[in-house]
Amino acid sequence: MFGRSKEINKSTAWKRLESQAKKMRKIQMRDMFDKDPKRAEKYTLKLDNMVLDFSKNIIDDKTFECLLKLAKQAKVKQKIEQMFAGDKINITENRAVLHIALRNKDNTPIYVDGKNVMPEINNVLAKIKSFSEAVRLGKFKGHTGKKLTNIVNIGIGGSDLGPKMAVEALRKYWGKGINCYFISNIDGTACAEVLSKLDPETTLFIVCSKTFTTIETLTNAKTCRHWLVDALGEPAVSKHFVAVSTNAKEVEKFGIDTENMFEFWDFVGGRYSMWSAIGLIIAIAAGYDNFEKMLAGANAMDKHFLNSEADKNIPLILALISVWYNNFFNVRNHAVVAYDQYLTYLPAYLQQLVMESNGKFVNLDNKFINYQTSPVIFGGAGTDVQHSFFQMIHQGTSFVPCDFIVPAISHNEVGEHHEILLANVLAQSEALMKGKTVAEAASELKSAGKSVDEINRLKKYKSFKGNRPSNTIIFKKIDAYALGMLVAMYEHKTFVEGVIWNIDSFDQMGVELGKQMALKILPELQGSRESKDHDSSTKALIKMIKKMRK
Ligand code: F6P
Repeated sequence: MFGRSKEINKSTAWKRLESQAKKMRKIQMRDMFDKDPKRAEKYTLKLDNMVLDFSKNIIDDKTFECLLKLAKQAKVKQKIEQMFAGDKINITENRAVLHIALRNKDNTPIYVDGKNVMPEINNVLAKIKSFSEAVRLGKFKGHTGKKLTNIVNIGIGGSDLGPKMAVEALRKYWGKGINCYFISNIDGTACAEVLSKLDPETTLFIVCSKTFTTIETLTNAKTCRHWLVDALGEPAVSKHFVAVSTNAKEVEKFGIDTENMFEFWDFVGGRYSMWSAIGLIIAIAAGYDNFEKMLAGANAMDKHFLNSEADKNIPLILALISVWYNNFFNVRNHAVVAYDQYLTYLPAYLQQLVMESNGKFVNLDNKFINYQTSPVIFGGAGTDVQHSFFQMIHQGTSFVPCDFIVPAISHNEVGEHHEILLANVLAQSEALMKGKTVAEAASELKSAGKSVDEINRLKKYKSFKGNRPSNTIIFKKIDAYALGMLVAMYEHKTFVEGVIWNIDSFDQMGVELGKQMALKILPELQGSRESKDHDSSTKALIKMIKKMRK
């Protein structure tokens, strides 16, 4: 129903892009800038307080036109409409994909199986509001009557990365006295290190798990529960533990009263869930007002995505540019560099969003794919990463498209720090685009008074090929509204890439095999079952580890 009769790499748009890429490989961006003084203006889009400049990409009018045709051939517009209408576009799991409903500020009805989902969403939002306010105001107290100021989110993947990223992004808005912690890894160190800092009387645990069956989360929650019960006794649990899940039965089984449970739904994917009660810690830390502003920012991006023409559509254009390099330039990576310390966790969040969504090799027609899907996403905070992986971005043998994200105004305008930061982000994108020819490097060395021998010895090392693409995304300030816009922009970009690649961006079956095998190996490591049915390497490793642990 949702597949396409013709594979996308056999489409005329794809073929045209292949020959266009051959042509564009010979073109230098710096020449295109020289020829067209309006290039930046032409390839810049604005939405509210956000600007996207995508002019430093290896594209021209013809490329842009071909990319838009690809989107048309892939029926991107229809797929967007299907998602917003609540159609079951997650075909392998037979589910609607409605993170957009979580921030549907207009409250227009959205139906799944004939039922409007908005009333339930609004009920949970009201519950998030009243609970987060009660915690912040100290009205919902701990078992011994103390205010709950240490908020611990226990979850992993989508039940951790989104809230963790957003809570950090909004650190400047945290309520007075509130501290947030995240426990995700099964490594006991994660739990031990967080618990060692906490006082049980002032600690609230939010156990987040869509399925409530994830071994890491349940094990961590169990350890935290023991820690609390040891200190305050069993009756304290209802004052110190709440759960966020779609699975009331498992929540109850775990020992959390469903009164203390915040519901969400199977039409919200884990990595798309920070807008649901999975974001409860965001509302507690930064206040419900800010949580609402974040939803409003996302909603603004949703409307833009749904209603804008393709050639003005920010997420769609970003997706097309990503496909352009991925499939026509054989590029395998994409770097996201946020020049904002508070966005430190954005790349980690995007790694799940993009790679769990689009790292797929079977298409919607149940066929193996013979073209490249998700790139590898990596990144970090600027300027830090300029001193780590940027050497490779500037002089590596292949290029890495970059997204540079920066606020015009910092939350901490200290001295000239922010201007130095801004100068750096602008310098990076310009340097990547322009590069420095061998002749330019030689002339620089000459001006510095170097000998001819020295110049000849160093000029290639000091050259930069340039023509390395980047997008620059500027916000006036990264407040909750801007954060909502930014994250929704990446969600929709990821969706469009998936539509073009004709894959289901909303399942994650690739994480299952490792989980199954770990369950088999666990009793073997614990000694209760003999190790068999493994390759010789795994068998030997089990044996060695057991010996070391004796
Ligand atoms: O890694 C697989 C995965 O299912 C993710 O998609 C999800 O975000 C994470 O595990 C956690 O799942 P849950 O919220 O059900 O505990």
